Amino acid sequence: MPQAEGGAAVPDTMPPVLADAFEQIQREVDAAFDAFLPVPDDARGRLVEAMRYAAIGGGKRVRPLLVCATAGLFGVDRDAAVNTGCAVEAIHAYSLIHDDLPCMDDDDLRHGKPTVHKAFDEATAVLAGDCLHALAFDILTMPGTSGDPFVRSELVATLARASGHDGMAGGQMMDIASASREYDLRQITRLQQLKTGALLAASVELGAILGKVPPEGRGQLRAYARDIGLAFQIADDLLDVEGDEGKAGKALRKDEEQGKQTFVTLMGRDAARQQAQMLVQQAGQHLAGYGAEARLLVELGRFVVGRDH
Ligand code: IPE
Ligand code: IPE
Ligand code: MG
Ligand code: MG
Ligand code: MG
Repeated sequence: MPQAEGGAAVPDTMPPVLADAFEQIQREVDAAFDAFLPVPDDARGRLVEAMRYAAIGGGKRVRPLLVCATAGLFGVDRDAAVNTGCAVEAIHAYSLIHDDLPCMDDDDLRHGKPTVHKAFDEATAVLAGDCLHALAFDILTMPGTSGDPFVRSELVATLARASGHDGMAGGQMMDIASASREYDLRQITRLQQLKTGALLAASVELGAILGKVPPEGRGQLRAYARDIGLAFQIADDLLDVEGDEGKAGKALRKDEEQGKQTFVTLMGRDAARQQAQMLVQQAGQHLAGYGAEARLLVELGRFVVGRDH
């Protein structure tokens, strides 16, 4: 299994076009976070070290790759797309720090190393999450992300909505509540769309915004993003049940223990797997109009359901 410099391992069964794209984005995102996060020579040093610990290395960088692959369809400058990808990844990294806290999933391992509150302490972990959240919007308002203030404000609004109560954080609340009340398939779908789907969908949307695609021209991309967003969380829930902790780099078999309701607990493994495969096939069909240019997005969709980490 090849190891991208400072990044996550990529399975060698991956088509070369996708493996190369992952290695490139992992390198670019690590370099960008390194530049965004110099460590100050005062008491904040520990805080920035914790941010770097969470943001550099480790993650697959699916969200930045979605931003860059979508932006690539419209000839967007690579640095602008990487910056935007880092903004989504900063929100994702913050969400994982908080997700792992004792008051949430209470996890000790992430990306194959101790979680931030274990490696540092709980207060530092809370603050590191807060600061990555702020950094995301700081990055989106940088002129290097877009020279056009209208584009910058649409980027900010899109990521803000996908992160808050109508997006990821709202989904996290529904996830917590799922331990103490019965959800039906419609409610589980809503939970997953917010908790995981919102940031993945935002990644595609941000790529289209950078490409100056008007909202009415984003329908097929949005349909693709919605389908892979759901498929991604079904794959995460399947991994929790049948994955290998060494490969996943995090503790598994937690959802049932914590009474979490997922597609897998509701439908069973086989039906959930079939649903994920159907969604990814459908996702690819939404992009038929983009032809070979969309190959990376289609392959990324296939990876999402076949992944082992
Ligand atoms: C894990 O996301 C948490 C979910 C939203 C399901 P990823 O699997 O994208 O996490 P990393 O960053 O690649 O580890
Ligand atoms: C986490 O979902 C989703 C977010 C952080 C928004 P999970 O709790 O299922 O993710 P893992 O399994 O800890 O990576
Ligand atoms: Mg969780
Ligand atoms: Mg968790
Ligand atoms: Mg999980």
